[in-house]
Amino acid sequence: MSLLRIDSSIQGDGSSSSALADQVVAEFRAVRPSEPIVTRHLGEQPLPADAWRAALGAKAVPEEQRTPADRAALALAVEVADELRAADAAVLALPLYNYGVSQHVKTWIDLVIAGVDDPVGLLTGTPVVLVTTRGGAYGPGTPREGWDHNTGYLRRILADVWGADLTVIEREFTLVGINPALDEFREHAATLRKSAEEAAAEAGRSLAA
Ligand SMILES: Cc1cc2nc3c(=O)[nH]c(=O)nc-3n(C[C@H](O)[C@H](O)[C@H](O)COP(=O)(O)O)c2cc1C
Repeated sequence: MSLLRIDSSIQGDGSSSSALADQVVAEFRAVRPSEPIVTRHLGEQPLPADAWRAALGAKAVPEEQRTPADRAALALAVEVADELRAADAAVLALPLYNYGVSQHVKTWIDLVIAGVDDPVGLLTGTPVVLVTTRGGAYGPGTPREGWDHNTGYLRRILADVWGADLTVIEREFTLVGINPALDEFREHAATLRKSAEEAAAEAGRSLAA
């Protein structure tokens, strides 16, 4: 059984999404100490932003008309798609930036779709844990309700298009304790953090089961 782990934070060791993914992996490892774990970090080693256009260009012409750069881009698209297809389970840490999905994650999704004939059902039957974190809070009744354009999009792609058996772990208010304007939410943020950590541990055990 192989586990695919994808991170995408741009915040290095301070990443709260990677910390939750660490917990998922730790619980998985506790049950399955020697299973292979394939990793990719989209925030630290971004996929080239121009590869998507080149991969689509390569697909549109016969093999002999493809440039070396277009061939390399298509090979990369196939590689990221195959990585997903080969995974028996996956944990994806994909946080919110600028009210949406990060450019690194969007590039990855576009390349995966370019790397297959039909993206529908690419992950059918694969348990996938999506970990997503955000600095603020966007739930019902909040001033910015509906401004999180990350989580819904990711659910659409992962579950509705790729067909993953999806578990979503969300942690809001990660900027509490960092941004003084949010100090009044300290207690609430601590509760959200604790429940996200418990959900991550549970998800790791369930991936290993
Ligand atoms: C460039 C940048 C943009 C961000 N944009 C938002 C935003 O639009 N809304 C929000 O609630 N938090 C925003 N945040 C805060 C992140 O969502 C928060 O730090 C979250 O924990 C990111 O996950 P990470 O810790 O794994 O990097 C932003 C952070 C950065 C660095």
